[in-house]
Amino acid sequence: MDSTYKRHLITAALPYANGAVHIGHLAGVYIPADIYSRYLRMRGRDVRFICGSDEHGVPITIKARQQNCTPQEIVDKYHLIIKDSFERLGISFDIYSRTSSQIHHKTASDFFKKLYEAGKFIEKESEQYYDEEAKHFLADRYITGTCPKCSAENAYGDQCEKCGSTLSPTELINPKSTLSGNTPVMKKTSHWYLPLDQYEPWLKEWILEGHKEWKVNVYGQCKSWIDGGLQPRAVSRDLDWGVPVPVEGAEGKVLYVWFDAPIGYISNTIELMPDDWQKWWKDEETKLVHFIGKDNIVFHCIVFPAMLKAYGDGFILPENVPANEFLNLEGNKISTSRNWAVWLHEYLDEFPGQEDVLRYVLCANAPETKDNDFTWKDFQTRNNSELVGIFGNFVNRAVVLTHKYFEGEVPAPVKNEPLDEETLAQIPVIKKNIEDSLENYRFRDALKEAMNLARLGNKYLTDTEPWKVAKSDIERVASILNVSLQICANLAVAFEPFLPHTTQKLRYILNMKSSRWEEFGHGSILHPGHKINEARLLFDKIEDSAIDFQVAKLEATKELNQETSQSGEAASEEIVSQIAPLKDECTYDEFMKMDIRTATVLEAVRVPKTDKLLQLTIDTGTDTRTIVSGIAEYYSPEEMVGKQICILANLAPRKIKGIESKGMILMAKEENGKMRIVTPEERLGNGSTIS
Ligand code: MF3
Ligand code: ZN
Repeated sequence: MDSTYKRHLITAALPYANGAVHIGHLAGVYIPADIYSRYLRMRGRDVRFICGSDEHGVPITIKARQQNCTPQEIVDKYHLIIKDSFERLGISFDIYSRTSSQIHHKTASDFFKKLYEAGKFIEKESEQYYDEEAKHFLADRYITGTCPKCSAENAYGDQCEKCGSTLSPTELINPKSTLSGNTPVMKKTSHWYLPLDQYEPWLKEWILEGHKEWKVNVYGQCKSWIDGGLQPRAVSRDLDWGVPVPVEGAEGKVLYVWFDAPIGYISNTIELMPDDWQKWWKDEETKLVHFIGKDNIVFHCIVFPAMLKAYGDGFILPENVPANEFLNLEGNKISTSRNWAVWLHEYLDEFPGQEDVLRYVLCANAPETKDNDFTWKDFQTRNNSELVGIFGNFVNRAVVLTHKYFEGEVPAPVKNEPLDEETLAQIPVIKKNIEDSLENYRFRDALKEAMNLARLGNKYLTDTEPWKVAKSDIERVASILNVSLQICANLAVAFEPFLPHTTQKLRYILNMKSSRWEEFGHGSILHPGHKINEARLLFDKIEDSAIDFQVAKLEATKELNQETSQSGEAASEEIVSQIAPLKDECTYDEFMKMDIRTATVLEAVRVPKTDKLLQLTIDTGTDTRTIVSGIAEYYSPEEMVGKQICILANLAPRKIKGIESKGMILMAKEENGKMRIVTPEERLGNGSTIS
């Protein structure tokens, strides 16, 4: 281990507080960072693991506008959801704070001021789109127009979502401000720039010469940025949400979110250790490691280090930036706006007590060297055949047999055979492999090695068959179970960084107090005569129905996305009248999970800026709730009010165009596209159940 360092400062990218956390974030950043932090703590190192919400930036202001609330209300909401879900997953931050905090505003503001006063910025004037009616400069995302590449309407100033091209706002044909709908005008504005070009020689030496050991994807991206020639980067924006630029005459300007956010790592450290923070940031004996996703590489390897370098005053630089690639979901890119994701808070609600299964699967399948795919089928298989079938099964057999033959006491190894020594001798080898992998940020390999320890135990029991030997040679069984229990105890230590909820259970079963890394690696953790507790299952099997439910949820998202994105022309494409093919068989139980009942529409309005969606307020007999439904082409809002409908009442709530929709309206649909609501033949009381 790297004992040249006295302390380890570990940061995980600050997630934007404009949405919840999903599996892509977890696999890319938070799970590896947590494993690394837990491991170093177990080794007795002085560790601080820092994170918090990134609460500035344009997307948050846009979301607020869409939802008719303030940016502060948006970030308050998501900050809590994110913080709480991380905690439930067992991500062991020492602090999870936020960039709207006072400390952060002050830290970021002072940071800027010091660079400004030291003449580290250049000031430049440029022309930018301005909305004269709203009296607002327009961030790229606030301008829409016709895409110059594919002619799609409603391309954004920075990107066309139809053809994927990166755009600049001046390329848009017929640009419109999304604030007023007016055509924006060009107006002069002045901003401060960090002249990255001046740092090029230094960055070359520091990264390209000095950090050849960084992951190839990280090193490669840095190299291509640097070789491509670095340009000055604006560090301020014309916006009314963020840290105000602390310079006279800079009203209406804030720090660019990518300038203030990384300073958040420092602010959060200050908040955690107001008196002591300096040695964590300004002492060469601190090892700083940034965990991030690949879209953050340039900011963490080039921009932020250049900021720290410009600041001077002894700030250290990251020793490593182990960025991961992206995780896809069932073959498609994860997307917050299209709701194509597995959301952590929903997972935690839907799989209670199974936090570690997600941790396991996302680490085993982490996109460390290339993009990877998450599928629910793989999730189920890994749980059922690896966690339940190998790890859980082995521990359970060892513990149950100890109770059966030795009244729950660790037996003394009185009759050893060479196989025992050979088996135990593998433990330190596995330990060494785990250490090497973790210290080199190869978390998948490390987990695989830990799993090899469980495999070793499982195989040992299968080979020695103590349940058969017991009939003739109970002394031999004593040795076998001693060895088995020692492996169990080693598992409790080895898995602690990866599956902390599970190892807590396992330590309870084995009646083990602590789990220090030092204990790992030998065959005498548990002493003969030590009492263990009754067996409890470490993992539960995941049934097909749970997986089918998740797949159906994604299917529903897919359909909804198609409905909302189909434009008029798509609908008028050649339509072949036919009947939809039958779906796969489902069981009675699966059907009965669906809570279908009657309800009455109280209010109906169109969802602004869509032509497919109605927002309905309905009376379900037990509550009044909102459902967003893609029926605006078939029913006007007036037609819907007063209608009795049938709804799927227990569908997990979904956000549609920023509105929380609770449930789904049952519709009959002809394959040529005609749709009608389904309703009882005669009006019934609201809340009548349908089956
Ligand atoms: N919010 C950014 C993202 O989700 C990450 C910010 S990391 C920080 O991509 F360093 F700027 F804080
Ligand atoms: Zn386009």
